[in-house]
Amino acid sequence: MRPFRLKIGITSKLFLAILLTCIVVALAVSAAGSYSFSQGFLGYLNEQESQRVESLRPVLARAYQEHGSWDFLRDKPRTWFALIRPPGLPPPPDAGNPPPPPGGSLPESELTGLNLRLALLDAEKRHVIGNPRLSQGAQLKPVEVDGAAVGWIAMVPFQQVTTGAAMQFQEQQRQASWVIAGLAVLLAVLVAYLLSRMFLAPVKRIAASTHRLAGGDYDSRVDVHSGDELGRLAEDFNRLAHTLQRNEQLRRAFMADVSHELRTPLAALKAELEAVEDGIRPLALSTVASLQAQVATLGKLVNDLYELSLSDLGALSYRKVRTDMVEILELAVDAFGDRFAEKGIRMHLQLPAGGQAFCDADPDRMRQLLYNLLENSLRYTDAPGTLDVMLESDAAAVRLVFEDSAPGVPEHMLPQLFERFFRAEQSRSRATGGAGLGLAISRNIVHAHQGEIHAAASSRGGLRIEVVLPRTEGVYP
Ligand SMILES: Nc1ncnc2c1ncn2[C@@H]1O[C@H](COP(=O)(O)OP(=O)(O)OP(=O)(O)O)[C@@H](O)[C@H]1O
Ligand SMILES: [Mg+2]
Repeated sequence: MRPFRLKIGITSKLFLAILLTCIVVALAVSAAGSYSFSQGFLGYLNEQESQRVESLRPVLARAYQEHGSWDFLRDKPRTWFALIRPPGLPPPPDAGNPPPPPGGSLPESELTGLNLRLALLDAEKRHVIGNPRLSQGAQLKPVEVDGAAVGWIAMVPFQQVTTGAAMQFQEQQRQASWVIAGLAVLLAVLVAYLLSRMFLAPVKRIAASTHRLAGGDYDSRVDVHSGDELGRLAEDFNRLAHTLQRNEQLRRAFMADVSHELRTPLAALKAELEAVEDGIRPLALSTVASLQAQVATLGKLVNDLYELSLSDLGALSYRKVRTDMVEILELAVDAFGDRFAEKGIRMHLQLPAGGQAFCDADPDRMRQLLYNLLENSLRYTDAPGTLDVMLESDAAAVRLVFEDSAPGVPEHMLPQLFERFFRAEQSRSRATGGAGLGLAISRNIVHAHQGEIHAAASSRGGLRIEVVLPRTEGVYP
């Protein structure tokens, strides 16, 4: 049984990832904000109080000077409150003002409940008035008259926010920060949604195009023009689709060409056989010779196709040995010598001084290559004409050049010469029996030897074919 797998699309994954990041950041920011606020708020409250205590010191010092001692304050909370009231606040109305709670506990101050955390001590630090329960935690500030401490103001700083108004303010702040966090999360949802859509739009387009290509639609292309990795992926995809499309076109063209090339001689053969059968043509020796010629053409074509498919297989089907190209060339030229002479084409051979040019090659394939080139020069050179064959070698490569006289190949056709079934002059080549496979086979052979083959116009008015075969350095003399 296949394990159950939750299918989450890449859009959802990216969306969740961005959303989660945003939420974590929003929560962290709001938590840090609310912590730093409460710390800052406490600091602010304490700072305010110490400023007030500071302002109390001269007030108390003056009162002490007036009365000569602290006795005027003992058990007089009202006088004490009147003294420590912040300036500018109206005095509390007598009526409705709750009496101070028993046990010395004092009502909250107007602002921060300072009264509760404030007390006055005499010079020996004994309690005079204010909250009597202030213990060691209290900060002491001297009340000085003529440079001598006549008393001490004891104050306990805020450890936490306790007073109603301050707590309410802090609570409001906290709530506001949670509302902000909530809004931030909503914003995060929106941003995550838009970002994930934006980032993944090209990926989706590439995926859709790949799907179409896999289904056999070779026209499928991706329209992504960014300079990032996705842009490069899209470019590669388009190149791949183009190659596939071209290969498919070539394959179809090749199949069409092959069947066409086979059908033409077959039809001729069939027509002649029918003519013999119907008694239109006598079954004479000349008829048999003609039939033989048709069969030979067919046979050559099938052979060439076979050779082409073999050479298409590449280097694997080659048996490379140390081969002397001079020897192979001389043998090939010898084999063609009579036919060239018969046709009236003068051949001129130019060989390297040492008389030898070794390279790593398959001798049979090399012979086939030279035969193709010589056969072409023989076929496509008008008499009287010339063919110059030159072979030279250096430490890096063996170079072979075939240059014949007119006719040549028009400039614009040169790049196509090595394509299968390509013939520069259809009628002329057809008459002489060429199928247009010779140079395609030759190019395969040269490429399988890591070499290069080029066609150009020859200085003698015909075609110039140059073959360069690399030598393995240091192995050959
Ligand atoms: N030496 C040359 N001079 C002028 N044209 C040439 C020469 N060699 C080749 N061509 C042109 O290039 C075409 C392709 O040559 P290729 O050898 O591939 O095919 P082919 O000779 O027509 O047929 P095949 O070689 O298969 O019998 C020829 O049809 C011819 O038009
Ligand atoms: Mg040929």
